[in-house]
Amino acid sequence: MELKLVKFIIPYWRRLLLVLLLSIVGTVLFILQPLIGKFIIDEVFVQKQYPFERALGIAVLLLFSTYLISAITRFIYMKTSLQMVTLMRTEFYHHLLNLPIQLFRKRRIGDLTTRLNEDISEIQRLYTDIILQIINLCLTLLFSLIVLFLFDWMMTLFCMILMPILLWGTHKFRNLLFKENLEMKEIGSRIQSFLFESLSSMKFIRSGSYNPWMQNKYTSLLESGNKQSIKLAVINTCAQSVPQFMIWFSTITLVWFLGIKVLEGSLTLGALLAFTAYQANLYSSVQGFAQVYIRIQSGKAAVNRINEFFSIPKETDGNGEISAFHSIIDLKGIHFSYDNSKRILENLSFSIEKGEKIAIIGESGSGKSTLVSLLARIYRPTQGTIYCDGVDIQMVKKESWHKQICFVSHDDPIWFGTIEEFLQSGKKKFSLMEMEKALMDVDLWNTIKQLPGMLKAELSERGVNLSAGQKQRLLLARAILLNPEILVLDEATCHLDSVAEQQIFKILQDKMTDKTIIVITHRLQNIGWVNQVVRMDQGQIVYEEGVFANGRLAKMSN
Ligand SMILES: Nc1ncnc2c1ncn2[C@@H]1O[C@H](COP(=O)(O)OP(=O)(O)O)[C@@H](O)[C@H]1O
Ligand SMILES: [Mg+2]
Repeated sequence: MELKLVKFIIPYWRRLLLVLLLSIVGTVLFILQPLIGKFIIDEVFVQKQYPFERALGIAVLLLFSTYLISAITRFIYMKTSLQMVTLMRTEFYHHLLNLPIQLFRKRRIGDLTTRLNEDISEIQRLYTDIILQIINLCLTLLFSLIVLFLFDWMMTLFCMILMPILLWGTHKFRNLLFKENLEMKEIGSRIQSFLFESLSSMKFIRSGSYNPWMQNKYTSLLESGNKQSIKLAVINTCAQSVPQFMIWFSTITLVWFLGIKVLEGSLTLGALLAFTAYQANLYSSVQGFAQVYIRIQSGKAAVNRINEFFSIPKETDGNGEISAFHSIIDLKGIHFSYDNSKRILENLSFSIEKGEKIAIIGESGSGKSTLVSLLARIYRPTQGTIYCDGVDIQMVKKESWHKQICFVSHDDPIWFGTIEEFLQSGKKKFSLMEMEKALMDVDLWNTIKQLPGMLKAELSERGVNLSAGQKQRLLLARAILLNPEILVLDEATCHLDSVAEQQIFKILQDKMTDKTIIVITHRLQNIGWVNQVVRMDQGQIVYEEGVFANGRLAKMSN
């Protein structure tokens, strides 16, 4: 399962290898310290056979180089792992943007951001930190064992007898920790989602004094998080107390036995100190392994959550190109349902000729927005095909299709950035004149002119510094600038008054005479200019004869 994530490590293997080598050198230098200590005590202080200054010099050099190497290692490691995390996050975000849209109804946004932030950081630690740690631990364990055996094999065997108890204790806590960690992450996600949803519905909360209700909800979520944290902390403490107790027990026993030998003169003081130091190293490395094991369990929860995500296939895209819209869009036998249970559109067929102006009307919930979102390829029909000049639009690259069609909806968002950036939206560079002209067309230029910086003025998050009507005008200005072959307005003028809506429609008619325009509106008095009226009723197209002077029967081919 980890294979999907290994690709994020591969680009950095050289630097990781360097980190690995440096940390091996660092560990070896660290392991040598007790031996040097023994040498200084026995040879310099007791036997007085080696010059004090020279021994001190060696010790200082050893300490200093151990420190230097570990600092360099940490720096290189940090830089590399940050780059790895950036790569992983970017890839995750990219994957996210290309997933089937249905998933976003099921998954809470907070859950996704938790995965993006915390889970990925945890994976980064798991993959890099832990590998380094394991290597260091192996070296420490091996070296300590060798030195201990050389000193006193019987006492070493005694130390080792206690190991299985230690490992058994750790193992016992493994599954429990894994389960509880997963639960902790779920609660974290729930809290994030709640925060995200409530903070972005501030107007609603204020409008009805829902604050206390929200506060209570947040407190109870936090409390469930606290309860889980305490539970986890207790389990963790129990899991770690097993090795801790083993270390105490063995150190006391060793000092007792070896202390007697020192008193009898059969063991030097330096050897006693070195032996206890290596014994502590041995235990702490075994304990380190146990902790690594526990961390891997908790990291695995993060790996599972990320892998689960990466294994959802991206939405398939076509690979054809569409360079222009020449004559006709045909919708043939379109069925659609959001979740395979309730049919939203039923066997719907009609066609739109190039240059036509179409109004889609009907009661709220009749399926108007759903129909146009199929055209904009937000969703794909469950059954049936939409053809553009005889080509199934699903077979065309989305990006290519979106060069032909521009979709403006009443719930389109306005996001951070300047007005200029928003108008360009990464698509085309428009000149200042063009932008100014488009803003004049939608009667927004006078407002923007007064903002500090004008087109360079920053839009605040979700455009809260604009009124609902001004936001719609801005979205319409962008559509006018893009001047697409097909323009779809899904109640994109609903926040304007009837006169303003009429003016916008007039401008669109003038500017886009040869372009195709599809509008959804509830104001029937404003659609006199269209040449086809499609009335939707419960997911089907109906036509009421005689209602619209300019309307003609929607072509129904079934
Ligand atoms: N994202 C969605 N998930 C599930 N059902 C939806 C979704 N959007 C709309 N619907 C349902 O589809 C039906 C048609 O909705 P919609 O196309 O938005 O109607 P209209 O735009 O005509 O008001 C409604 O019954 C609505 O409940
Ligand atoms: Mg709608």
